[in-house]
Amino acid sequence: MSFRTIEWRDNAVIMIDQTRLPGEEVYTTYEDFKSVAEAIKGMIIRGAPAIGVAAAMGVALGAREIIADTHESFFRQLENVCEIMARTRPTAVNLFWGIERMKRVAEAHRGKSLDQIREALKKEAIRIEEEDLTICRNIGKWGATLIPQGATILTHCNAGGLATAGYGTALGVIRAAHEAGKDIKVFADETRPWLQGARLTAWELVKEGIPATLISDNMAGFFMNRGEITCCVVGADRIAANGDTANKIGTYSVAVLAKENNIPFYVAAPLSTLDLSLSDGSRIPIEERPRDEVTHIKGIAIAPAGVSVRNPAFDVTPARYITAIITEKGIVSGDYLFGLRKAAGI
Ligand code: MRU
Repeated sequence: MSFRTIEWRDNAVIMIDQTRLPGEEVYTTYEDFKSVAEAIKGMIIRGAPAIGVAAAMGVALGAREIIADTHESFFRQLENVCEIMARTRPTAVNLFWGIERMKRVAEAHRGKSLDQIREALKKEAIRIEEEDLTICRNIGKWGATLIPQGATILTHCNAGGLATAGYGTALGVIRAAHEAGKDIKVFADETRPWLQGARLTAWELVKEGIPATLISDNMAGFFMNRGEITCCVVGADRIAANGDTANKIGTYSVAVLAKENNIPFYVAAPLSTLDLSLSDGSRIPIEERPRDEVTHIKGIAIAPAGVSVRNPAFDVTPARYITAIITEKGIVSGDYLFGLRKAAGI
């Protein structure tokens, strides 16, 4: 990859600032867990797997900051660090998955010295990042088998290298198909209001030399109806046991349009995005973000000050609209309740 989304270096966390792309490629160093939490809230880093990695690294940084005489005090403060990380964003389950994994490692090392616990947490956070890269490559490998030669693929939001430790989930599938020489083209929805598609997906695709066409969100149906889209591939923030999938707002509309036009609609996500504790998507918490993301573009008002605004950041696509879910362990379709549990090894 020609950029790094996030890395642990010299006991600090370095992230590419996604709020400044595509204009500037700026890397910022974070030395304390509270600033990592703020970076997640402020979308410096975003995308489900990437915020899972950031949360884990935040916990590892927090463990280093704790001053404690006893294990009891250390674990109490670590719990507080985890709570602060968990309050950053509510929808992507990878964030909570990352934090839980860090808690389990701390617990498993309870009998060791505090420095040994801190070291184990640092290693686990780095491992989560490294594993994510391998997982995305495997998602790509499986997903590429679904992409026909010469396909035009529509994607929504950014499920690319920037949304993961690198390579991407939906863009991982696209990258793998491109690497396999399939002569593909991509249509990227701009993805209002935050413009992840225009600012991030288009940036990644252009950088990679994958033919990319940017469209505004309301154009997707037009191109599907004209037969210009072969299939859709999107990422996910949380997948319930029955396959209902929360992803960036607008994904549901794309899925409905795809069904209407007989176009396959694929979700690509790691198993860490599964939330098998939820039987369906109705209880997935949906983040509502600030009004100025809708009323302003780059600080310029595009709406009158008095208007009321709703800004849900995600929607839930019912499983019946999803042709298949591509995971690192294989492709699941049909009976998601059975298939997802099997993929998760349950
Ligand atoms: O609000 P964001 O930018 O964090 O939302 C990201 C998405 O919805 C992505 O499509 C999803 O996390 C999949 S990322 C591999």
